[in-house]
Amino acid sequence: MAGLFITLEGGEGAGKTTQCRKIKEYYETLGHEVVLTREPGGTPEAEKIRNLLVQRDGGNWTPMAECLLFFAARQMHVETLIKPAIAYGKVVISDRFTDSTVAYQGYGHGFDLSVIRQIETITLNGFCPDLTFLLDIPVENGLRRSLDQKNKAAGLENTEDRFEKMDKSFHEKLRQGFLTIAKENPDRVTVIDASQSADDVFSQIESALKVTNVI
Ligand SMILES: Nc1ncnc2c1ncn2[C@@H]1O[C@H](COP(=O)(O)OP(=O)(O)O)[C@@H](O)[C@H]1O
Ligand SMILES: [Mg+2]
Repeated sequence: MAGLFITLEGGEGAGKTTQCRKIKEYYETLGHEVVLTREPGGTPEAEKIRNLLVQRDGGNWTPMAECLLFFAARQMHVETLIKPAIAYGKVVISDRFTDSTVAYQGYGHGFDLSVIRQIETITLNGFCPDLTFLLDIPVENGLRRSLDQKNKAAGLENTEDRFEKMDKSFHEKLRQGFLTIAKENPDRVTVIDASQSADDVFSQIESALKVTNVI
């Protein structure tokens, strides 16, 4: 029996990492083997590319070079980890995937969407998730969660000026981009109201998983 490939998408602080863990527990309780992974990254080689992309001094990439790096990492992730796990019957859950490149590089930074789709076709040859959950949350709400989390990790008090400096218009473009992707792919993407409690968000996901009943 073939496995299942699920991706979680959405902006910063939407709760993707939190819900990935809950979906993992859900499938493990049902007796499935689960692989939890993330992008960019997920394999040793792709994690090296992740480091190039996320380091502050990682280079001043042209939009094309940056896009190619994302898809280079993704191609390896798909071929060496995701496809073999699915073929083995496992449930693979990825924290971000192609939709994030379309939302950030395309809708966010304005890189040509048709070029991104061409690179996607060349590198992934039509491979896409069985199911995607788009965790949708008002921008201010998600950024607030994300900043609180970072401040807590750094032992800082919440600083209002840092919040005000966050680029809300960019994140609004991202949010609308993700919603457009969802509208264009209604069979694959389920939009989830992520502004509720983590347990309530998971209830929505669980209902959708039960309805699709794919595994
Ligand atoms: N539904 C929720 N309600 C309130 N806080 C949440 C919720 N989901 C996650 N969080 C908290 O918000 C922060 C960001 O969550 P996380 O799952 O890391 O989001 P993402 O991976 O989308 O950036 C974390 O501190 C997390 O504990
Ligand atoms: Mg996360």
